[in-house]
Amino acid sequence: MSLSTGARPTRMPTQTPRTALPPYPTSWYAFGFANELRPGSLLARPFMGREVVVFRTQRGEYCASEAYCPHLGAHFGHGGSVEGEEIRCPFHGFRFNTAGTCVATGYGTPPPPTARLSLIPLRVVNGLILLFHAAPGMDAVPDWEPPELAMHDWTPPLQRSYVLRDHPQETTENSVDVGHFAHIHGYRDVQELRPATIDGPHLSTAYAARHIMPVIGQIWRQVDVAFHFETQIYGVGYSLVELTVPAFGLVSRLWVLPTPIDAERLTLRLMLRTYRSPGSDLPAPLRLVPRKLFFSLGARFVLSQFTHDTKQDFDIWQHKRYLPRPALAKGDGPIGIYRRWARQFYPAATTAEQGDLVTVPATTTDTELA
Ligand code: FES
Ligand SMILES: [Fe+2]
Repeated sequence: MSLSTGARPTRMPTQTPRTALPPYPTSWYAFGFANELRPGSLLARPFMGREVVVFRTQRGEYCASEAYCPHLGAHFGHGGSVEGEEIRCPFHGFRFNTAGTCVATGYGTPPPPTARLSLIPLRVVNGLILLFHAAPGMDAVPDWEPPELAMHDWTPPLQRSYVLRDHPQETTENSVDVGHFAHIHGYRDVQELRPATIDGPHLSTAYAARHIMPVIGQIWRQVDVAFHFETQIYGVGYSLVELTVPAFGLVSRLWVLPTPIDAERLTLRLMLRTYRSPGSDLPAPLRLVPRKLFFSLGARFVLSQFTHDTKQDFDIWQHKRYLPRPALAKGDGPIGIYRRWARQFYPAATTAEQGDLVTVPATTTDTELA
């Protein structure tokens, strides 16, 4: 059992909120990594301003619920346990199954019918525990699913977590903020391979860019490497970037998962897996390295670059303001399209009340700004 967010705290600014965005938009969000929860254990964490517990039965079934027992309000994360296929409250021993039903009191008396767990929609996909959160006034039952990808022959997940002061719409916007790729991350020749396209809660786009890699000492500093980024965003809590480095024969999938802890802070989880290609398409010198070792080292190399890049954004993210009327310019990328797409994750009434939640024109593109 753990009460922590499982993340490293970063230096936290103390200013007042800098955004009018409601703090908890509707989306699927990572509650944790699947390998954090063995059968027969539970994990309690703050999630979207609530206390939430996820437990896993001895047979391996997962269940997410409000962390407070419906009997007299004890917190399952403080002394609760999993017994067989049920969670047991530490206070009076009531037990609940994964349907949320109280199956036993601690006294052998009939369970009160009103004692039911308040369940939260949960999916375990590709090594992630994802929970669905609905903003107030929006349908609590998800009408879309997070993607599940075939991951045979990919390296085991490498994972990182950080606590930041930011909003998930803002960190996710980073993927379409093309202008900062050069200024913050040092990429050059950034080119749009495919314009941003929207399909309901799914937004995708693709870019190519080059980077002089500061990898291993002076010689490698001269290496000019081409990258392809294929970005798939599902709601504001889940981004997946498929990153191809043709020169090294590497294809990696990078997940970027911001999950609000409360109205001010979020946990940013990163996960990376690299495709173990058959190897025949690798550059000749690299074929000399044992295949398993090559892809394991390759995954670590890509992760180190990826975390390095992501950390470069932290200071900006933690101190910037959300501008509902940004002064966009040619070269920004599809920020207007992204912001219009993001409106669907907020209640319509809230959007109307706030009026200026998103006012970027629908058709703002580089071409039209030219
Ligand atoms: S508060 Fe949970 S059993 Fe009483
Ligand atoms: Fe960035």
